[in-house]
Amino acid sequence: MKFRATMLRKLGLLLSTVVLVVASFALTASPAAAETYTVKMGADSGMLQFVPSTVKAKPGDTIKWQMNKLAPHNVVFDGDLAKSMSKDKLLFAPGESYESKIPEGTPSGEYTFYCQPHRGAGMVGKLVVE
Ligand code: CU
Repeated sequence: MKFRATMLRKLGLLLSTVVLVVASFALTASPAAAETYTVKMGADSGMLQFVPSTVKAKPGDTIKWQMNKLAPHNVVFDGDLAKSMSKDKLLFAPGESYESKIPEGTPSGEYTFYCQPHRGAGMVGKLVVE
């Protein structure tokens, strides 16, 4: 029954593959999955603001900075996230965007950021890492 043994081995391999695939889907769909939050640069109302100006997120999440109104804007972080999350290139065209990923291992706390051209006008924001 060599043929039968071979078939059984193949079936076992197939089954373990299916289990692996299903398991990886379950992991991806877990509630701790990374999310992306969009922050508009320049309020619809015509104010020099980030909208929302406070973002709550966790390490591994991504913040998408989307140029909206009153260009140009950029985003510069103070402190520990300055290197990893700042985007100092100025955006001009509405809809243009770039993304910053919150590094794994970032301690929870509040991190402030601002737009270089409009810092004096109050275009500042806060990232709350949970
Ligand atoms: Cu600005």
